[in-house]
Amino acid sequence: METMRAAVLVAPQTFELRDVPLPQVGIDDVLVKVDRCGICGTDLHIFEGHYAADRLPLIPGHEFTGTIARLGEHVSGLRVGQRVVADINVGCGHCFYCRRNEVLNCSAASQIGIHRNGAFAEYVSVPARQIIEAPTHVAAEVLALTEPVSCVVRAARRMRVSLGQSVVVLGAGPIGNLHVQMMRLVGAAPIIVVELSPERAKLAAKVGADVVVTDQDRVQEIVRAHTGGRGADIVIESVGVPALYARAFDLIRPGGHVAAFGITPPEAVVSVGICDMILKETSMGGSVAGMGEDVHDALTLLVHDRFHVTPFVSNVVRLADIQNAFATIKARPDVLKVQIAPG
Ligand SMILES: NC(=O)c1ccc[n+]([C@@H]2O[C@H](COP(=O)([O-])OP(=O)(O)OC[C@H]3O[C@@H](n4cnc5c(N)ncnc54)[C@H](O)[C@@H]3O)[C@@H](O)[C@H]2O)c1
Ligand SMILES: [Zn+2]
Ligand SMILES: [Zn+2]
Repeated sequence: METMRAAVLVAPQTFELRDVPLPQVGIDDVLVKVDRCGICGTDLHIFEGHYAADRLPLIPGHEFTGTIARLGEHVSGLRVGQRVVADINVGCGHCFYCRRNEVLNCSAASQIGIHRNGAFAEYVSVPARQIIEAPTHVAAEVLALTEPVSCVVRAARRMRVSLGQSVVVLGAGPIGNLHVQMMRLVGAAPIIVVELSPERAKLAAKVGADVVVTDQDRVQEIVRAHTGGRGADIVIESVGVPALYARAFDLIRPGGHVAAFGITPPEAVVSVGICDMILKETSMGGSVAGMGEDVHDALTLLVHDRFHVTPFVSNVVRLADIQNAFATIKARPDVLKVQIAPG
C-alpha cells in the first residue's frame, strides 16, 4: 500500500504525524502534491474542537497550492506536473445554487480540509473540476494565499462597494488585513480600521488603511470626523463578535451597509431596529468563503502582485512542527499567517 506523511487531528488540540494511505483518486479526481498550505482561523476553530468536531480524525488544511501528481481515468485537460490551486468548495455541480455560484447552499456541499481530508499532508485528492491552473513563476507561498484572498474578493463583490466609498473594517486579523487591501484595490476611501492590537493596527496601516483606531472610546468620533460627519458607507465586521453589530450600525451613514463576515457562534442573533432600517434605507448582508469566479479573480490579483504579502509569507514551517505552529499563531499578534511546507 502506498502511504504519505500527514498531520492528522485525532482529537481537539492533538495532531499526530502519521503515515497514512495515499488518498483515493477517483476517476474524476486529481492527486495534488502539496507545496504549501496556510493555517487560518477556521483551522484554529477545528483545532480547538469548536468546528467540524464530528469529522475527527481529520487532515485539515484548505489554503494550499501544489503540483499534479496523478490524474483520475476520466480527467482531461490537465497534466501531471502542472502547478495548481483549488476551489475548495465542492457542490453537486448542477443544482440551482451551484449554477449561481452559491455552492455552500447546495445540499451536497463540502469543503476540502474542513469536511473532508485536506492538505496538511504530502498529498491531497481534489475533484478535477475544482482545480485551477497556476503560473510557475509565482512563489508557492503567494499562491497559497488564493483561498483567503478569494474570501475578501467575494465579500467585496457582495457588498457592492464602489469608488470613493468610505469603509470601516472592524478587526485587522489576517482576513481584516486582506479586506483593507481589497478595499484599497476597489478604490474605497477613506479606509478606517478599528483594532484592539497595536501590532495588527500597524500592519493594517502598512498595507493601506488611511486611519487606524485602537482607542475604542473614540471610534464613533473618528469615523464621523473622516466621513463628513455622516458615518461610513460600509462597515465590515471581520471579528465575529455579535455585540459589534450594534457598533457597526452606529457607524454607518443613513443608506449605509453592514457587511456580516466574521464567523459568530451559530446561535448568535443581532437586534436591528427595523423601522430605522426602512426609514434610513440601511442594509446588511452576509458573505461566505470564496468560490468559482472569486477564486479565479483572487489568483489573478495575486499573480499580478496586487497584494502586500510579506506579513503572510514569512513564516513557513515543516509539517512535523504543525503543533507548534498552531501555538505560535495564538500567541503572536504580529504573525498574520503560518504556512506548512509538507515536502
Ligand atoms: N465569511 C467568510 O467567508 C470568512 C472567511 C474567513 C474568515 N472568516 C472569519 O472572519 C473573521 C476574521 O478572520 P481573521 O482570521 O482575521 O480572525 P482573527 O481572530 O485572527 O482576527 C480578529 C481580529 O479582531 C480583533 N478584535 C477583537 N475584538 C475586537 C473588537 N471589539 N474591535 C475591533 N477589533 C477586535 C482582534 O485583535 C484580531 O486582530 C473570523 O471570525 C473568521 O472566522 C470569515
Ligand atoms: Zn481559511
Ligand atoms: Zn449543487
